[in-house]
Amino acid sequence: MSEIRKAVITAAGWGTRFLPITKAQPKEMLPLVDRPIIEYSVEEALQAGIEQVILVTAQNKQAIEDYFDRSPALEHFLEQRGQHELLKIVQQVGGRADVCYIRQKEPLGLGHAVLTARHIVGEEPFALFLPDDVFIGSPSVMQQMIDVYGERQGSVLAIERVSVEDTQRYGVISPEKLSDRTYQVKDLVEKPAPQEAPSQLAIMGRYILSPKIFDALERTTPGKNGEIQLTDGLRLLLREQPIFGYEYQGTRYDTGVPLGWLKATFSLALDHPEYGPALREHLRGLDIGD
Ligand code: UTP
Repeated sequence: MSEIRKAVITAAGWGTRFLPITKAQPKEMLPLVDRPIIEYSVEEALQAGIEQVILVTAQNKQAIEDYFDRSPALEHFLEQRGQHELLKIVQQVGGRADVCYIRQKEPLGLGHAVLTARHIVGEEPFALFLPDDVFIGSPSVMQQMIDVYGERQGSVLAIERVSVEDTQRYGVISPEKLSDRTYQVKDLVEKPAPQEAPSQLAIMGRYILSPKIFDALERTTPGKNGEIQLTDGLRLLLREQPIFGYEYQGTRYDTGVPLGWLKATFSLALDHPEYGPALREHLRGLDIGD
């Protein structure tokens, strides 16, 4: 059994970079081929042996809860029509995961969203998923991180090497290299100006966190817009406990923005056994210039 038994998935943000669709539709429920984006995180958690998924949602996110719930009326309808294959698919969604929900009542930042899960997580290390980041890897990126956690027994942050210009979009670590892909985090800074970035190693949307992060987040003063930043909480945690960065193996798609979502959609669809060949054919027939 994995020592990491619980996953927190934060899905309470407004998704302003995806407006206007996010006015009425949670971005986490946009499809990637035939599954909503959030299901990729839930699947990754299950594959890593995690037993309980704690989803942090907000007022306009009802569709997420409906998706992972049973739907007796739909199941009855499919049964009556003899559509047993579809019935099986519908029942499988959510059937495998023990999902519970918690509402973040105000969008006070990622750190605050994590804090709302405190009483369900309790005093044990947990996995944190930012579902916009969809990772394709084998073993899964969370499984890789759990392996690093097993070795190091400290919080682990998923790390990707980005261009100098892109450092301003992420939390960036000041690293000390420990092994091929693992770093000791010496310091971390949220969205530094490129000339001030301590490295090109940026934090992506997968974490394994010590429960001490909750005390650290309680002590974190809100930054700009009154939001509690997870990175600020991690800085406080770093004063008490080591934190490790792990350069994951796999591909990441940022589905929280239209272009990233489009790239993910095309890449995953081209790899899809049913849709891939026909889509490839269709794309070949398009006049896409150079
Ligand atoms: P983002 O920075 O991507 O914010 O949040 P957002 O609201 O989702 O999207 P934009 O920037 O307006 O387009 C990073 C992660 O933190 C969660 C989001 O759901 C996402 O998983 N989050 C952010 C919360 O759960 N609550 C918050 O108050 C803010």
